[in-house]
Amino acid sequence: MRFDIITILPDLFKGPFEHKIYQRAIDAKQLEINIIDLRPFGLGNSKQVDDYQYGGGAGMVLMPEPLSKCINHCCSTCEYDEIIFLTPDGETLNQSIANHLAIKKNLLLICGHYKGIDQRIRDKYVTREISIGDYVLSGGEIATMVLVDAVARLIPGILNNETSALTDSFQDNLLAPPVYTRPENFEEMQVPEVLLQGNHKKIEAWRNDMAEKRTKTRRPDLKP
Ligand code: 6GU
Repeated sequence: MRFDIITILPDLFKGPFEHKIYQRAIDAKQLEINIIDLRPFGLGNSKQVDDYQYGGGAGMVLMPEPLSKCINHCCSTCEYDEIIFLTPDGETLNQSIANHLAIKKNLLLICGHYKGIDQRIRDKYVTREISIGDYVLSGGEIATMVLVDAVARLIPGILNNETSALTDSFQDNLLAPPVYTRPENFEEMQVPEVLLQGNHKKIEAWRNDMAEKRTKTRRPDLKP
């Protein structure tokens, strides 16, 4: 799966995606992440990419020409399934959207900044607009990393244990049950007996029960 990411802050992506958890998948050619710096597509000698907004008001807006040049450049190298703009006024990312995107091949992601991007770019090129939650970040970069991580980890082989993703919180609109590892007794606290007895039917039923209880108390808004 290929993610192309347009940003004015390419350095921000260096640390996270150079980590071995991604690098392994990149080396195996299961994952390709290309960071495209918007700056060289900017206007004039200063390579300007942003300007004041018409009508007045605080905050700069990413100009349409550099973005369209950059998007066209990207589209000349790849046929995208979706062109996604990361923006706080997009639909809120959830597991169902991540699952849906994980079956795609090529995604172009555009990181917004300041007050956002010129509306005409959204109208002409963008096929989907996604937010990662009801709070405002200084730019779309970290939101983009969240989206890429949530999607990429669903690709078989990117996780060490391929079935692990199926039992995540949210996969059935249920939060995950509590988990325990060694030791059996930690500071006078015992691992629940049922997990130690090896009866897989009982364990499954206990986990289901705990997941339902947890969801009811913590996230009554999730509909199973
Ligand atoms: Cl996608 N961008 C910004 N700037 N803030 C956000 C967001 C995106 N999602 C939630 N907050």
